[in-house]
Amino acid sequence: MDPVPWREAWHTALYAAGRGFYVTRGGPAAHFTTATHGVTGAVLAEALLRLWSRRHRGGPPAVVVDVGAGRGELATHVADLLGARAGVVAVDVVDRPEGLDPRIEWVRAAGGALLPDALEGLSGALVVAHEWLDVVPCTVAGVDDRGQLREVLVDPATGDEHLGGGLSGEDLDWVTAHWPDARPGERVEVGRARDAAWAELVGRVESGVLVAVDYGHLAADRPRSGTLVGYRSGTLVPPVPDGSCDVTAHVAMDSLWADGLASQRDLLRDLGLRGERPDHALAQSDPLAYLRALERASAEAELIRPGGLGDFWWAVKHVGAADVP
Ligand SMILES: C[S@@+](CC[C@H](N)C(=O)[O-])C[C@H]1O[C@@H](n2cnc3c(N)ncnc32)[C@H](O)[C@@H]1O
Repeated sequence: MDPVPWREAWHTALYAAGRGFYVTRGGPAAHFTTATHGVTGAVLAEALLRLWSRRHRGGPPAVVVDVGAGRGELATHVADLLGARAGVVAVDVVDRPEGLDPRIEWVRAAGGALLPDALEGLSGALVVAHEWLDVVPCTVAGVDDRGQLREVLVDPATGDEHLGGGLSGEDLDWVTAHWPDARPGERVEVGRARDAAWAELVGRVESGVLVAVDYGHLAADRPRSGTLVGYRSGTLVPPVPDGSCDVTAHVAMDSLWADGLASQRDLLRDLGLRGERPDHALAQSDPLAYLRALERASAEAELIRPGGLGDFWWAVKHVGAADVP
């Protein structure tokens, strides 16, 4: 097949009707585990609501929206915590999953940078995008021997790559602003499409808090050889954009439109998560409570673990006034 820009091949591979990976191959949980699954997901949901309460002492959000919701794993944890006190909306690229908690409203999206029209004018909203931006396809560029940035083209059938024309326009502007020091032989995953997708999501909110949680990097430690990888059935595979695997690349978190940026470890510790094991005396007096506390402590520890989930980044954007000064 003719090579095409990575951004195009990537979008087709993940989201094309009837053949995209996320449209046809089961939910993300069929291929990899994320922090939204199981007990870590319950703890994460609680932490997100705690983050909301820091700024909004008047009560819970009117609505919690999970963009890139998988099959509603995090949304289910949120609904369990909030009950009827708030609406919960989950957005992803498939029809409503069978058996999804009836308290959750399901909205179908086209995928990648495209958000559904139904998401607009959100007020009193806590909007979460957990590992969404890393699957928003972006331009991939390479620096040639002469130091020129050129777009990387890919054969969708094989994953073979070629350097195409020189990078230009908004992509080049983005690299100049956020990734200016790439050297010959290095790769640049241009964050512009993620910035635009995130800004679009922010624009759908009239008041509330948005949180993007993702693998990422900052200007001081941009990856030099790219982070593009594939996942299929729990295994890391070469990123061939043929629809047979997930294709993902880390996010330049510091170019997103945000008021705050912190590692998951720091942010969750600040919200009170410690991962400390319960007092062993509890095992004697109330073994079940001890086991529950132990399970929760392990989940907290997992979420803040250096070298693991603790290294995720949280970008937080506030829209409208807080009710706590
Ligand atoms: C890496 S998975 C993460 C799923 C879930 N948030 C989690 O952390 O387990 C990314 C999800 O984002 C979804 N997605 C991609 N683009 C989207 C869009 N524009 N709107 C809604 N969901 C989208 C994909 O279909 C996929 O389910």
